[in-house]
Amino acid sequence: MLSNMGLAWPFVVSLLLLCTADQAHGDSLKVDLNSADSMRAGAKILAKNLMAYYHGEEYGQTLGILPGPPPEGPYYWWEAGAMWGTMVDYWHYTGDDTYNQLATNAMIWQAGAPQNSFMPPNWTASLGNDDQAFWGMAAMLAAEVNFPNPPEDQPQWLELAQAVFNTQAAPDRHDESCNGGLHWQIPISNGGYNYKNTIANACFFNIGARLARYTDNQTYHDWADRTWDWMEGVGYIADDFNVYDGGNVEKNCTDINKAQFSANAAILIHGAAMMYNYTKAAKWEARVLGLLNQTIEIFFPNGIMIERGCELEDKMICNTDQHSFKGYMHRAMATAAQLYPKAHNPIMSVLKTSTEAAVKNCLPDGTCGFRWTTDSYDGDVDNGPAGQVMSALAAVTTMLLDKQSIGAPVTNSTGGTSKGDPNAGSVPGILSSAPPATTGEKAGAGILTAAILAVTMGALGWMTMDFGEGK
Ligand SMILES: *[C@@H]1O[C@H](CO)[C@@H](O)[C@H](O)[C@H]1NC(C)=O
Ligand SMILES: *[C@@H]1O[C@H](CO)[C@@H](O)[C@H](O)[C@H]1NC(C)=O
Ligand SMILES: *[C@@H]1O[C@H](CO)[C@@H](O)[C@H](O)[C@H]1NC(C)=O
Ligand SMILES: *[C@@H]1O[C@H](CO)[C@@H](O)[C@H](O)[C@H]1NC(C)=O
Ligand SMILES: *[C@@H]1O[C@H](CO)[C@@H](O)[C@H](O)[C@H]1NC(C)=O
Ligand SMILES: *[C@@H]1O[C@H](CO)[C@@H](O)[C@H](O)[C@H]1NC(C)=O
Repeated sequence: MLSNMGLAWPFVVSLLLLCTADQAHGDSLKVDLNSADSMRAGAKILAKNLMAYYHGEEYGQTLGILPGPPPEGPYYWWEAGAMWGTMVDYWHYTGDDTYNQLATNAMIWQAGAPQNSFMPPNWTASLGNDDQAFWGMAAMLAAEVNFPNPPEDQPQWLELAQAVFNTQAAPDRHDESCNGGLHWQIPISNGGYNYKNTIANACFFNIGARLARYTDNQTYHDWADRTWDWMEGVGYIADDFNVYDGGNVEKNCTDINKAQFSANAAILIHGAAMMYNYTKAAKWEARVLGLLNQTIEIFFPNGIMIERGCELEDKMICNTDQHSFKGYMHRAMATAAQLYPKAHNPIMSVLKTSTEAAVKNCLPDGTCGFRWTTDSYDGDVDNGPAGQVMSALAAVTTMLLDKQSIGAPVTNSTGGTSKGDPNAGSVPGILSSAPPATTGEKAGAGILTAAILAVTMGALGWMTMDFGEGK
């Protein structure tokens, strides 16, 4: 995930503006948040709109991904992983299984046989630990909500999440710089490798916490516990529970980029609520509370979510990735409301005001803008628009939590049926030595090198840019 790189897609934007220009701004999607039927109907429109950006099952397209990665289209590989997670939740909250088969096909294909650890060689040039983990978190969610299991001869949801965990816990992902922690990128040659950031570590923490709760295996718990301590130790999670973006190993991670993005806080809230629900420990309760408290303060001023690091009052500098973050926050907070019932009421009340605002920014056909505080469709389909609709969809579906019985995440001992494999992912992946290349593969490798170079140069540009606090 490129959490800090701004990429503009003016041509996509102008195309989309053409399509929507004739729609009256005053006319928005109508969803009654007091009616489950109305919410399901609204969610169905939003889901259909979102799925219209997915062409992976069409002839000549790549199964599982959104158009991209740049320059092929606006979306990096990880965002489709996030989208399938959203669709798994869509089914979980609404019961509509229209897209289940698409989600299953996508996750199984992109897991990348034979390793099945979400590191398919196609995406090496933009493969961060966070990118891999967003797919892993979608698989973990599938296990937790008992999403229909894949056929037995295919990798299973729990096994896929374990594969991601195992590859990230392996010694080759860890070193002593900054006292530990994961690098952002997986291949050393990728730009941004020397950035040790919150999102990479928060995702690893999140999957560890969930595997601990699901399988009741202490090893996962200990990794999650240590990873939290590391993030706190380097100051990415501050005493006041502000969550900062990351730092560079050249500076022992002390050059903290203090930009606050909701994806970081959301993944941490979700993981901390899992740890609390699993351990019932006072320290985890304090962390969940502290994070929730600060999150509502920072990201929900007046009860409506803003992407504070880039959705500025006078200008919008959010990139495509960041246009999708609000949905992860709404989903994480709704799950926290289930896992930590004491915070259910304050969470659901802020999610409700935020969702009301989100819906007003969507058109009747499910096309959604981005700045939820505008009280009407703002036309910001810039840098998206899959992320914008994904966020509104997440907001509407999770509001069903209070309107019907929605099962909390299951575990292996409370009804979970997904089969695991503690050793999943141990088949060496892209970092292992490959057999001698054929001529065709060598030509491909040249292209890949060029792609890596391009990414590296892009990253260098970003590193010299003063992004701090999104100023
Ligand atoms: C990798 O790229 C090839 C060529 O475009 C495509 O056929 C294949 O489906 C891709 N695999 C994955 C896992 O994306
Ligand atoms: C790097 O920072 C860690 C704390 O995160 C500290 O324990 C360590 O001593 C520092 N190392 C150097 C070389 O300054
Ligand atoms: C929540 O935040 C308020 C002020 O922002 C503070 O007074 C209160 O102590 C915080 N509660 C927790 C549990 O952190
Ligand atoms: C853990 O989550 C379950 C499911 O929602 C809930 O019933 C239970 O009360 C939670 N445990 C704690 C200690 O809050
Ligand atoms: C889940 O529980 C079953 C029955 O207790 C056990 O056989 C299985 O090994 C467990 N799976 C995992 C992944 O722990
Ligand atoms: C617990 O998880 C660790 C780490 O993946 C694994 O090595 C171990 O075999 C697991 N234990 C059990 C009982 O499944």
